[in-house]
Amino acid sequence: MDAAKTVIPDLDALWMPFTANRQYKAAPRLLASASGMYYTTHDGRQILDGCAGLWCVAAGHCRTEIAEAVARQAATLDYAPPFQMGHPLSFEAATKVAAIMPQGLDRIFFTNSGSESVDTALKIALAYHRARGEGQRTRFIGRERGYHGVGFGGMAVGGIGPNRKAFSANLMPGTDHLPATLNIAEAAFSKGQPQWGAHLADELERILALHDPSNVAAVIVEPLAGSAGVLVPPVGYLEKLREITSKHGILLIFDEVITAFGRLGAATAAERFKVTPDLITMAKAINNAAVPMGAVAVRREVHDTVVNSAAPGAIELLHGYTYSGHPLAAAAAIATLDLYQRENLFGRAAELAPVFEAAVHGVRGAPHVKDIRNYGLVAGIELEPRPGQPGARAYEAFLKCLELGVLVRYTGDILAFSPPLIISEAQIGELFDTVKKALQDIK
Ligand SMILES: Cc1ncc(COP(=O)(O)O)c(C=O)c1O
Repeated sequence: MDAAKTVIPDLDALWMPFTANRQYKAAPRLLASASGMYYTTHDGRQILDGCAGLWCVAAGHCRTEIAEAVARQAATLDYAPPFQMGHPLSFEAATKVAAIMPQGLDRIFFTNSGSESVDTALKIALAYHRARGEGQRTRFIGRERGYHGVGFGGMAVGGIGPNRKAFSANLMPGTDHLPATLNIAEAAFSKGQPQWGAHLADELERILALHDPSNVAAVIVEPLAGSAGVLVPPVGYLEKLREITSKHGILLIFDEVITAFGRLGAATAAERFKVTPDLITMAKAINNAAVPMGAVAVRREVHDTVVNSAAPGAIELLHGYTYSGHPLAAAAAIATLDLYQRENLFGRAAELAPVFEAAVHGVRGAPHVKDIRNYGLVAGIELEPRPGQPGARAYEAFLKCLELGVLVRYTGDILAFSPPLIISEAQIGELFDTVKKALQDIK
């Protein structure tokens, strides 16, 4: 394809998601094609992908094995109804996902996105407690600054104020929130897990005392929060959450929509941090984002309790999506998981993590930098906000990076980095050298 000849289409009809539509349409930024670590823009410029699309293209762009698997499947079985019928690839994909989940989480429910995975996990938690005769356990506890997608359940357990504001009165009732774990005054420029902050998990006991633990169905957190600006769990924090939830018979859900499939140098954050929850939500890198797909991994006992409590012949969980385990998505997942294994990409992420850490912390001292945090192949650079204009400086840095040939993500005044796991050491250098230059160039 000759990307240099891509014409900008009429932009009016599309209402773009999480986008300043008017600002964007006044100066559109279009990506026309991609390969490996690079995007090509509509006007033919090569852009190094510093964020794996949106945390999802872990194996790099347009991988032949995945593209061919999807094309083959589209010509073989385009669609099969997932309710009371099946097709081989969804079972095969589930087996492959289960094989790399923490031990015991070997029952897989397919969805089409992270948001659907979260709402599915919340519903499974309710179904589980009801099946055990504890239907009074209806409350959920999330965390401030948590992001769990855009469904009414996910927004309610989520902790990003602006995302909730317009929907506030209609959010799922019965939620409460742990405090966020980020404290720059105590843990600025932490490399890896901050030493400060494990005690914040004790807040869970306080919240449970208020609602009574017997009313609480589940606690949901991102083991490493990405969307709110890269919040790395303090040493000992996740362990405490596990201990407290187990003590009170409360399910622990890890939302691993960004961390599953190698981002932290292991298949899951649960494996990396050695803390096993009862459910894991995932999406993004499950099939390298080739076709929309998400999943929930469920501890077998939770699954069995729900399934075995239903009457023989009855549908055990009245939940699912027309496209759960879609043949194209499943084909992409199988090809992707094989590719991750063949190229040892999770191991590669672990090996590259120290290089990545050194490079991102090399940006310390550049103008506007307030904090830097990292783990695995994730990093965040928090900038001093411009007085009275929150987010404006990071937006400008994002634009400047793009102009200099690098795609980064920004949220508030935080730049976030999560490159494909195939990134080279030289490209890591290029990424952060560009960021440094961009920060020098902006006001
Ligand atoms: C932790 C987490 N949960 C849920 C979601 C929502 O995923 P989706 O946008 O696929 O609905 C995201 C998306 O970034 C996420 O980071």
